[in-house]
Amino acid sequence: MTSFILVAGATGDLGQRIVRELLTHDTRVRVLTRPGSDTAAALYAADPRIDIVTAAYTDPAALKLAVAGVDCVVSVVSGVRPVIVDAQRALLAAAVAAGVPRFVPSDYSSDYRRIAVGSNRNFELRREFAADVDAAPIAATSILNGAFADMLTGTAPMISFTRRKVMYWSSADQILDFTTKDDVARTTALVALDEQAPRVVEIAGDRVSARDVARTMTELTGTPFTLQWAGTTGTLSAMSSIVRRLSKNPQEVFPAWQGMQYFVSMFSGQAQLHHIDNARYGEHDWTSVRDVLAAHLAAPADTSPASAS
Ligand SMILES: NC(=O)c1ccc[n+]([C@@H]2O[C@H](COP(=O)([O-])OP(=O)(O)OC[C@H]3O[C@@H](n4cnc5c(N)ncnc54)[C@H](OP(=O)(O)O)[C@@H]3O)[C@@H](O)[C@H]2O)c1
Repeated sequence: MTSFILVAGATGDLGQRIVRELLTHDTRVRVLTRPGSDTAAALYAADPRIDIVTAAYTDPAALKLAVAGVDCVVSVVSGVRPVIVDAQRALLAAAVAAGVPRFVPSDYSSDYRRIAVGSNRNFELRREFAADVDAAPIAATSILNGAFADMLTGTAPMISFTRRKVMYWSSADQILDFTTKDDVARTTALVALDEQAPRVVEIAGDRVSARDVARTMTELTGTPFTLQWAGTTGTLSAMSSIVRRLSKNPQEVFPAWQGMQYFVSMFSGQAQLHHIDNARYGEHDWTSVRDVLAAHLAAPADTSPASAS
């Protein structure tokens, strides 16, 4: 039977990948977008299996109408409190009011459930919303995937490609979970179609330490990459608090201090995944950290400011 899945935030990076994956199955997709943007129309209007609905997250009646009749609401919205808590609460309430059977919150992260209070803003917003999800009369599945592996060659400054260093905090042997966006999107689509999906699905395309990353870079480039101790997770956490106090825009989703908090969560082991079930949806080729780094090294040099240093 054809499944009917609503994707909120389908115009974003991960959202587009999830829609693409859903369409490889027997599905109809409804895309929920906010008023005032043509992006959804530009991306999806030509596909007869996709319909686009526009609703503001502040309009409960329009949201309820938007989600009515679907089998699962997949949230891929991105932001801080006004989005992860407030907009998602509205979306969850609409799904419950419309009798939607299943909900996937916009988690796609490391395991935020046991991190220390005050240690990671974005993870704690997810934990706060998860309490609402747990209390709501709807089946829900969070996807926990560690960090996006794609970020190792971009926005996560763990590897210095020019200085041939791999940074670490506290321990070079702490296991870090990484999954590519495409592997997360494939799993999310499978979860959306899975009526028996559990409350949490943990996946990791790869699990490596900083020491493994340095070894891999050395092997791939033929030149030594050395480990660089950058302090303890405690000092990084303190630095992050100072930088946060100086920051001018509290709505920024990924400011530098938030990046530091991600490394604190990862290198302290607090956000490590412990129940990875990559086999839940059968055999798949998971992209390894080595694959990501090799592809980056093989690609023509990116000279844009956002490229890795
Ligand atoms: N684990 C990791 O390493 C990692 C890394 C990056 C991101 N993520 C997570 O992955 C998820 C998707 O991220 P992404 O990078 O794909 O996001 P994105 O490209 O920024 O897009 C997210 C979508 O959210 C919607 N949105 C934006 N502002 C909103 C608002 N104020 N209210 C409601 N909706 C809003 C937009 O859709 P419309 O304009 O169509 O409404 C937008 O296209 C998020 O949970 C993010 O935190 C995880």
